[in-house]
Amino acid sequence: MSLLSTLTGIFEEAFEEAGFDRDYGIVEISQRPDLSQFQCNGALAAAKPYKKPPRSIAQDVVSLVESRPELDVVTVEGPGFINIVLSDAFLGNHIDRMIADPRLGVPRVSSRKVVVDYGGPNIAKEMHVGHLRPAIIGESVKRLLRFLGHDVIGDVHLGDWGLPMGQLICELEDRMPDLLYFDSASSGPYPAEPPVTVEYLQEIYPVASRRFQEDSRFVDRARCAVVELQEGRPGYRALWQHFHRVSVEAIKEVYNRLDVEFDLWNGESTVNQRLDPMVARLLAGGIAEESDGALIIDVAELDDPKDVPPFLLLKSDGAALYTTSDLATIEDRISRGTEVIIYVVDVRQSLHFEQLFRAARRSGIALEDVGLEHAGNGTVNGPDGKPFKTREGGLLRLRELIDRVEERAEERLQENDLAQNYSDDERAEIRRAVAAASLKFGDLQNHRTSNYVFDIDRFTAFEGKTGPYLLYGGPNYSRDRALLRTVDVDL
Ligand code: ARG
Repeated sequence: MSLLSTLTGIFEEAFEEAGFDRDYGIVEISQRPDLSQFQCNGALAAAKPYKKPPRSIAQDVVSLVESRPELDVVTVEGPGFINIVLSDAFLGNHIDRMIADPRLGVPRVSSRKVVVDYGGPNIAKEMHVGHLRPAIIGESVKRLLRFLGHDVIGDVHLGDWGLPMGQLICELEDRMPDLLYFDSASSGPYPAEPPVTVEYLQEIYPVASRRFQEDSRFVDRARCAVVELQEGRPGYRALWQHFHRVSVEAIKEVYNRLDVEFDLWNGESTVNQRLDPMVARLLAGGIAEESDGALIIDVAELDDPKDVPPFLLLKSDGAALYTTSDLATIEDRISRGTEVIIYVVDVRQSLHFEQLFRAARRSGIALEDVGLEHAGNGTVNGPDGKPFKTREGGLLRLRELIDRVEERAEERLQENDLAQNYSDDERAEIRRAVAAASLKFGDLQNHRTSNYVFDIDRFTAFEGKTGPYLLYGGPNYSRDRALLRTVDVDL
């Protein structure tokens, strides 16, 4: 039984014995942890119906429970709050019982089918520091919900279908015009070997997006290429498959280093087949409307304090957008029985998700019984308090960030004279685990929505509130076992 339900039971009984309705006995976690651990506010609520001063009601209840062994301090404060501090003996017993339970006393809930959408890297592009928090928080949300008993699927939801794909195709065409993929008359077969490596793609990606900013002809070509890709031009599809395959391999490597695993490697492209029918249905149903050649869904509501702009469903050139595939993805997930979708994505995308959820409700794609939640995350900041940048002003690559933490972890291991007698492979794995723990703990000790400063020295320390401390200084299975063996305890 949880502490809260035990305490509530005690106070319900006391209220009843003192002559009040037992429902006033509800105990909550204290809002003033500096004063007490728990509190009961029932006396305040009982004052009016019983026409008695709340402090005197509280006093009656307190006198009935104050000698109970579970409680150390029970006092009446302010207008009639009851402040509660547990006795050490009771707390100790409770913890013993928790430890004896493989589920640590956490009850199972009735299971719902949940998709956690987190990660969100874009293919052909280097992952950067902005991908760190969704990975860490999303993985934790997934594991916690699973532990509670839900049926949870983690989906990486790759950015793999938008305009950057058109930019890359055109950039590559200019560099390697003779490749069969660009021959509009060809319909394959195409080589199985990828024509480019992921490093090469990552190198030309920024070049292509710069050209897109500067060169209007390139803009037209890239737009046209993405529409043709989405419509199924065989050469572009085959080329895109290569982009996809080499990118996913590289992305997996990064997530592995962080112990982050996905059940689904879906992406924007997964729902391609759903886009046309969905758009046609929304048009026919009068949900979507035309506006300057584009298709939109009006999602404004009367009591919006700030204007909520319409949800853009299709651009005027017919290209599907990030928004389009997100809406079709909701439809797809629900068609597979999903009851709750949680998006762990940067809080700066809040407006997008607000519009998306409204569009999903308005269109009937998600009925009220389906939960849609944007669990937005804050940013990782540099010492200047702004989102982390490299010295050159670019976004720090996630790979490099992990490298740095692993290097620092290695130094820490040496400073502390730890893990010296292991093989190189084992040491590499220990270093990786220490770095992953540093990053995860450093991240999760902050509230999800707040930003934090990336402090490699603090995160990797073996003392203080850190991941390495938990691995080593806290309960440490291998060390404790060795210790017990030296004093000859049977294990
Ligand atoms: N690829 C997106 C980006 O780079 C993030 C995707 C988040 N997930 C989603 N279902 N929208 O911003």
